[in-house]
Amino acid sequence: MKTVLLSAEEHNTALTAAELIKAGELVAIPTETVYGLGADGLNPEAVAKIFRAKGRPQDNPLILHIAEAADMEKFCHDIPDAAYRLAEAFWPGPLTMVLPAKDIVPKCTTAGLPTVAVRCPDNAVTREIIRLAGVPIAAPSANISGKPSTTTAQHVYNDHNGKIPLIVDGGPCRVGVESTIVDLTEEKPRLLRPGGITPHQLVEVVGDLILDKAVTQSIEKDTVVKAPGMKYRHYAPECQVIVVTGSKEAAAKYIAEHYKPGNRVLCFEEELEVFASFYPIAYGKESDEDSLMAGLFAALRELDDPAIGTVFARRPNGSGKALAVQNRLMKAAGFQSVDAEPKGLVLGITGGTGCGKTTLLKVFEQAGGLIMDCDQIYHELLKTGTALLDAIEAHFPGCVEGKKLNRKKLAGIVFSDPAALKDLNAITHGAVKKEVLRRLDHTPGGIPVAIDAIGLFESGLAEVCDVTVAVTAPEEDRINRLMARDNLTREQALERMNAQKPESYFREKSDYVLENTGDAEEFRKKCLVFFQKLLTIKENT
Ligand code: TXA
Ligand code: MG
Repeated sequence: MKTVLLSAEEHNTALTAAELIKAGELVAIPTETVYGLGADGLNPEAVAKIFRAKGRPQDNPLILHIAEAADMEKFCHDIPDAAYRLAEAFWPGPLTMVLPAKDIVPKCTTAGLPTVAVRCPDNAVTREIIRLAGVPIAAPSANISGKPSTTTAQHVYNDHNGKIPLIVDGGPCRVGVESTIVDLTEEKPRLLRPGGITPHQLVEVVGDLILDKAVTQSIEKDTVVKAPGMKYRHYAPECQVIVVTGSKEAAAKYIAEHYKPGNRVLCFEEELEVFASFYPIAYGKESDEDSLMAGLFAALRELDDPAIGTVFARRPNGSGKALAVQNRLMKAAGFQSVDAEPKGLVLGITGGTGCGKTTLLKVFEQAGGLIMDCDQIYHELLKTGTALLDAIEAHFPGCVEGKKLNRKKLAGIVFSDPAALKDLNAITHGAVKKEVLRRLDHTPGGIPVAIDAIGLFESGLAEVCDVTVAVTAPEEDRINRLMARDNLTREQALERMNAQKPESYFREKSDYVLENTGDAEEFRKKCLVFFQKLLTIKENT
């Protein structure tokens, strides 16, 4: 089949395209987002051709493109008020709404779903084609399935030359990433795919918005997702893409260490100089999110070459239009992302109760550090997860009642039986350590972390620390502090202190000992000087 390219500006283009659509043929159409591969959305045989040409999985439904907002009533029922308000605010434009489908919409268009996605594109010639054809046009992005989307007629030609009769050339697409998709079939509007219309813009109209998991996370192959298209590897060039976050200097260092001949960098214009030796290609300006959206797919297509091996890609920060760019890039990368900032120093802070750990931690926090309080984490795990409770119940049957820990009962068992106490500690220490490791993994580079744990050594947490620090204080000071802080008698304070490990234990095991001897202000200063020294040590290595 010969593929013809017709300019949108030519007089007869819309009519020619409409005739082909009516005849059940495929026509590539320009929109403000990306080019679509269009067919009569009410004709199952025409729609089947789309799936064949794209190599698209059958369970991935199509968007119905309509010429006027009012036409949504022809194809959708039970349309909520929010849909009318969104149409009023953003149509014609880069927004797709998922609504309950009328029976007139064939099952192959909706992939068997009871809902249909509709959109009124902001492109004069395409709306004219729809009007002249007298049917809605079902159109996915015109790329071959899995490839970066098509934002110029040439991209479409490269993917479909010889397979479709007509490409309508409307020039490069203005927005450059596919439409924002919002599902209006549930109680609350749900964002299924970020695009040129931002979450903030949607919230201004509908008041409330749930961000679907698929917007920011990778989806397991077998999970049921709201927008079936979100689960496939997408937008991917024929080489591996790794997103590298962190400052451009840190990223350049990371790339220099991992660069192999042929590799490329995909970055912002502002960064071209830093990455000059890694054959960078810029997809837009970091300071101009519109330019990033508009340039992303063309750049990914340029990098579509197995000989490149690896593309190191930079992504913008932000929750507006940047979200759409992040989403497409992360999918192109199969969600492979590395934080190039070196990890901050991890400190283990320990010592008996009443020594002044809290003062030290406050100073640390004021210096920009992040605190992980193991006692608090333990209580959070009991409250929010079931894994820890289940493990306790399995070992100490009857100690968990209705998802709550019966502390008295548990204490009764472990305080009279050292072996049982050891078992309980193994369970709780293991759970807390696992959670601390998970949080460390999610802590952005560069930020120092203090792990606050009285059982720092018994729990094995000391092994993940770069340095361990014990806080000590004279016994009399500790007694007074505990009496005042926890409203205890002298005997109770002593009893609590004696139930813990002796000072000598913490002294022997820790790398550093901070003695809280003088007054509070003096200790604070001591801590500050200590951190200043320690943190510069790490930065210099
Ligand atoms: O900007 C765009 O939306 C472009 C242009 C051509 O209009 N079209 C586009 O189509 O991006 P496509 O097929 O590449 O992406 C449509 C997405 C898919 O992720 C699909 O799963 C989802 O919309 N979708 C379609 N119908 C749906 C439905 N009834 N419920 C949930 N998701 C749906
Ligand atoms: Mg697509």
